[in-house]
Amino acid sequence: MRDTFFFQLDNRLHYGIGWSRGLGDFVKAQGWHHVAILVDEGVAAHSPYYAEIKPLLAAAVDSLTEIKMRGSEEPSYDYLDQVADQLRRLPALDGIVAIGGGSALDSAKALACLRTNPGPALDYRGFDKVTVPPVPTICIPSTAGTGSEVTINAVFTDKSEQRKLGINGRYLNATYAVLDAEWTMSAPASVAISSGMDALVHTLESFMTGNANPLTRALNREAFRLLYTNLPSLIDAPGDKVKRQALLLGSYLAAAGLFNSGSGIAGALSYPIGVHFKVPHGIAGGIFIASVVDFNVAHGWYDYAELLDVVEPHPDWTAEQKSKRFAEAMHALADHLGVPKTLGQWGITRANLDHVVSLVTPLQAAFNQNPIPFTGETDARAMLALHTA
Ligand SMILES: [Fe+2]
Repeated sequence: MRDTFFFQLDNRLHYGIGWSRGLGDFVKAQGWHHVAILVDEGVAAHSPYYAEIKPLLAAAVDSLTEIKMRGSEEPSYDYLDQVADQLRRLPALDGIVAIGGGSALDSAKALACLRTNPGPALDYRGFDKVTVPPVPTICIPSTAGTGSEVTINAVFTDKSEQRKLGINGRYLNATYAVLDAEWTMSAPASVAISSGMDALVHTLESFMTGNANPLTRALNREAFRLLYTNLPSLIDAPGDKVKRQALLLGSYLAAAGLFNSGSGIAGALSYPIGVHFKVPHGIAGGIFIASVVDFNVAHGWYDYAELLDVVEPHPDWTAEQKSKRFAEAMHALADHLGVPKTLGQWGITRANLDHVVSLVTPLQAAFNQNPIPFTGETDARAMLALHTA
């Protein structure tokens, strides 16, 4: 953990179940007359809440342009350019309201930049490449998971290079985030679970990394408490809005920790297997995260005691005992949520393990974030082997 650190949190948050019913008034109070609503196509098609809110928003502004965003796991730079073209042709645009999962929100944050910055989206790949301030944005997650509404990152796939590398940094933050569980109620269970596991991975990896600091650790503990205690409701009580709201807050805090301290092995492994085998990002991380915990505990890293204390205090136990119990609890949670143990259904098996290992070995810089040394060729191979048949 670091004694000297920099910490950043660059957005304003509106929090509350049903807050979005006042979205029209809020937008009006911002002085926004011409608004684009970038909505995930699944939300536009299936959310009764969207059907309720859209007319309220339309009534509050002079013009409302609706753009339905592809809800795919893998927004690409080509896709950004197509939508940017639409946005750039609007004669006036005061603000963007984005509603959707992580892909839609990442796209919206980048598109807000592309409205005010010329050229193809690929020109802005990397860190702090955007020079002109974007159109202001309100980002509203419809799943509790990626935390895109709070981070300064937006992840995209470069189809020609077959890799994910985002547009990040200054100006990639949402101006406002809205956490309102009403939006999450119509997401399919599989999406809610994948998103929830993503948030859990964010907070655990942000906790483990060598760049963690006292502030990110504080965020991690509360995010973990919220996620660990409320994730089972996705199976046991899927209609419970209060628990969904708690998951949204957990996801937000997890991501605030993540972009300040960095991620680790499970997040890193999920990128290449997402691009090449279409394993959903959150499920991929969810498959590996308990194994990452096992690996670290087996090598004597017992900081997990700090997280177990938050949800299950055992005053007389040693840090080692607590960490072993923590590892068990992570396996049990993944099992409860039905996270698969192997990657076979996406075509990753022992037969192509060498190929998959070759895809993950370039991730050594991310592996180096782990508190225990971890190599692609040996340790990632062993970890992948655990999850292939
Ligand atoms: Fe993630």
